[in-house]
Amino acid sequence: MQISAISKEINEWSGSLLIAGVLEGTIENQLHLFNTLIKDTYLSQKFNDAKFEGKKNQKLSIEFIEGTIKKIVFVGLGKAENLLIDDLRKAASIGTRQVSPGYEAKLGIFFPWDAFDQSSAAFAVGEAVRLTSFKDIRFKSDPKESIQIKEVELIGLDVKLAGIAIAEINPICEGVKLARELVAAPPNFLTPSQLAKEAEKLAIEFGLDLKILDQKECEKEGMGAYLAVAKGSDLKPSFIHLKYSPKITKNKIVLIGKGLTFDSGGYNLKVGASQIEKMKYDMGGSASVLGAARAIAELKPINTEVHFIVAACENMINGSALHPGDIVKASNGKTIEVNNTDAEGRLTLADALVYACKLQPDAIVDLATLTGACVIALGDEIAGLWTDNDQLSEQLISAANKAGEGIWRMPMQDSYKAGIKSSIADLQNTGPRPGGSITAALFLKEFVKSSIPWAHIDIAGTCWTEKDRDLTPKGATGYGVRTLVNWIREFNFISN
Ligand code: BES
Ligand code: MN
Ligand code: ZN
Repeated sequence: MQISAISKEINEWSGSLLIAGVLEGTIENQLHLFNTLIKDTYLSQKFNDAKFEGKKNQKLSIEFIEGTIKKIVFVGLGKAENLLIDDLRKAASIGTRQVSPGYEAKLGIFFPWDAFDQSSAAFAVGEAVRLTSFKDIRFKSDPKESIQIKEVELIGLDVKLAGIAIAEINPICEGVKLARELVAAPPNFLTPSQLAKEAEKLAIEFGLDLKILDQKECEKEGMGAYLAVAKGSDLKPSFIHLKYSPKITKNKIVLIGKGLTFDSGGYNLKVGASQIEKMKYDMGGSASVLGAARAIAELKPINTEVHFIVAACENMINGSALHPGDIVKASNGKTIEVNNTDAEGRLTLADALVYACKLQPDAIVDLATLTGACVIALGDEIAGLWTDNDQLSEQLISAANKAGEGIWRMPMQDSYKAGIKSSIADLQNTGPRPGGSITAALFLKEFVKSSIPWAHIDIAGTCWTEKDRDLTPKGATGYGVRTLVNWIREFNFISN
């Protein structure tokens, strides 16, 4: 898909489909513009019939038989004084959904750009079209001709101002696409070693450094918590460590993603309504982290060294699988009584966090589909954020807001630590059901050096959507990639 800005007037534009954003109450004034474009004498009648006034999210599609323009989708943007860049994103997304076979060749977008900084508006809208039109046909034997928008023109923008921002759409959207494809891939295809291969592909294509620790090497590191989960599966674990090095390293950060390519629950098997069939997406954190790696490798931030870490494995049941009640030892020496084998993510993350701390970074952020409790608390549009560091919290929230990804800071209630106290080991891996996402975060905290700023983002709800949403068709969302990329690019310093 080729996206470009063109400085043409709307009435000089030609293409097969046009998305026109209309501010509330301005349609009368703009009629003459659209009339010269399509010479439809009934246009004003059509707006009246549909009661289209440009109210937010109002939509009117009009098809034409004659001429090159086959369809115009008018999308209401609401009142000018309330207009946000997110409204442009949504309107672009609504319009893009109206693209059907035959109209897809060239898409024009005509929005009131002047209300915004041109480059941010161009970026947001181009990105919205790319992300909305994503379709995964990899596993269809007979892929019906999928709709492809070949060309997108943002009409009436300054070519220079918008151009620089538009160049960044591709690396970022490719990162989101990678994350979506990894999450949607079934567990018999995306195994732990296949995930390592995907990291290797990135390393080769973009010149990142790659280290894969196999089971033996992880044993040497003393990663008893991670390996205890992995040994319940016939598939070997892969501990993935990718590194992006900038020209001059001023900051060093580590991103960790939970990478359970399937979570059956183990002997605490997922039964009843626990949706075992969905648990291919339990590597959503690792997908976001590798997606961010894909984008960062191409965008090349100048001062920040970034490490991408995934302790990949499966949570399965064989004769060597964890018994509920087993005691395991993590690589920082802490012992854990596994009172529930379905709380496996935190066991794998424990060793990943210890490994990350040894790199002595300026900050660590982990993303994980960690708890069902987080889905209950925040739903599928908002991820939970836990950190003791206010500065890191602010930076991540601002990065997420800029990306239009939902995030909400949750309490790190230290007194709840009593819930994960074990009578026989240092810790147990689960606490009581109430506040289950908080005790999960507190458990992770036990494996992070207190001098290193650290944040945990629970994406159990946000990594997947059961319905079409703005920018994200039903399925894997790629949540987190854009937040991480925004954060890394603006990362400066966090004091602890
Ligand atoms: N991967 C799940 C969490 C999950 C649940 C993600 C639903 C997405 C949707 C995690 O490994 C898990 O099973 N957590 C348990 C923890 C419990 C045993 C304390 C849960 O949330 O039920
Ligand atoms: Mn689980
Ligand atoms: Zn899990």
